[in-house]
Amino acid sequence: MSAAEQLQQPYIIQTDSVKERYARGWHCLGKASDFTNKPKTLQYFGKKLAAFRGKDSGQVHIIDGYCPHMGADLSRGTVDGDSLTCPFHSWRWGSDGVCNHIPYADHIPKKAIISSFKTMEMNGLLFVWHDPEGLPPIAEQTPRRIDDYYSGEWSDWHIAKFTINSNCRELVDNMADMAHFGPVHYSNVETFKNIQQGHTFTQLMTGGHDILADEGEKFTSVATYEGPSYMTTTMTGSMEGHEMVTHLLVANVPINTEQFDIYLGVMLKKDLTLSAEDNQSMVEQYTQMSVDSFVQDVDIWNNKVRIDNPLMCDGDGPIRMVRKWYEQFYMDRDDIPESLANADKTHETKIKFKRSEAA
Ligand code: FES
Ligand SMILES: [Fe+2]
Repeated sequence: MSAAEQLQQPYIIQTDSVKERYARGWHCLGKASDFTNKPKTLQYFGKKLAAFRGKDSGQVHIIDGYCPHMGADLSRGTVDGDSLTCPFHSWRWGSDGVCNHIPYADHIPKKAIISSFKTMEMNGLLFVWHDPEGLPPIAEQTPRRIDDYYSGEWSDWHIAKFTINSNCRELVDNMADMAHFGPVHYSNVETFKNIQQGHTFTQLMTGGHDILADEGEKFTSVATYEGPSYMTTTMTGSMEGHEMVTHLLVANVPINTEQFDIYLGVMLKKDLTLSAEDNQSMVEQYTQMSVDSFVQDVDIWNNKVRIDNPLMCDGDGPIRMVRKWYEQFYMDRDDIPESLANADKTHETKIKFKRSEAA
């Protein structure tokens, strides 16, 4: 084959098979108030889980979803104090995953232990710690408190859940993918910067926005992943002359290696010069606009392929940088190189056009 013929060969997409391992870190499961004394079935990290709020402690507990006695679904059981009683033969499982009562036996088998997961509540959200090595949470990775949530000056979270037919890494690419913000999210990007620091990855964007800012007005967004699953964004835009400040939540939780759930949340600063009624209608309208602007991604993710060798051009954002950062959550703790664990890097993507000029 001549050199000229070789040059015309089509690019070959690589889609490596994905190992069944789920990221280490706090995963957000939506609003904490959705978890009550009525057990909930969760399908995450490749297994069934049972979640329930203990009646004594008021804490949410998450344990394996299947009873090892004869396989019944524990999430169909009943809460007894801080334990969950299986619906089949009434073995009772504690929040630590240890069986603490069998109504018809003198001895509880020593092996009667199932997996249990640490949980925490922060910013009105429930988090579950997942670690393939079974180690306790890392203190520095506790999600940061959002003071605005507790201030009384903001709306509560409005949360929508979507199931996406793709591997959850595809979502994280977004952080560095400058070029999709115009076509997909109606942003007119003017500056785009990423900062990688240890377990966090931040995107700072300024420009305009066709939906979330009035014409000719500025739109700014600061989005930070704290660990592999939990991203919050503070966006400043405008609507009919009012400045609109929003916190957006985008949390991914793997169902398996080919599907994940997204919890998309919006919380909005109230305009205290408006009546309660006008505030409510403004919050509802802008929340819907924020959701509409975000869900354009969903259709792309549901129909794309995972590419391990993306064909990049010089105007693209640092996709490889965000993927490298994300790899740390799939490694054993002792294997994470210093360069990832203590990384402190900034990357600025040069913007070569305005979307209006490129159309
Ligand atoms: S299957 Fe759960 S108690 Fe028998
Ligand atoms: Fe996006």
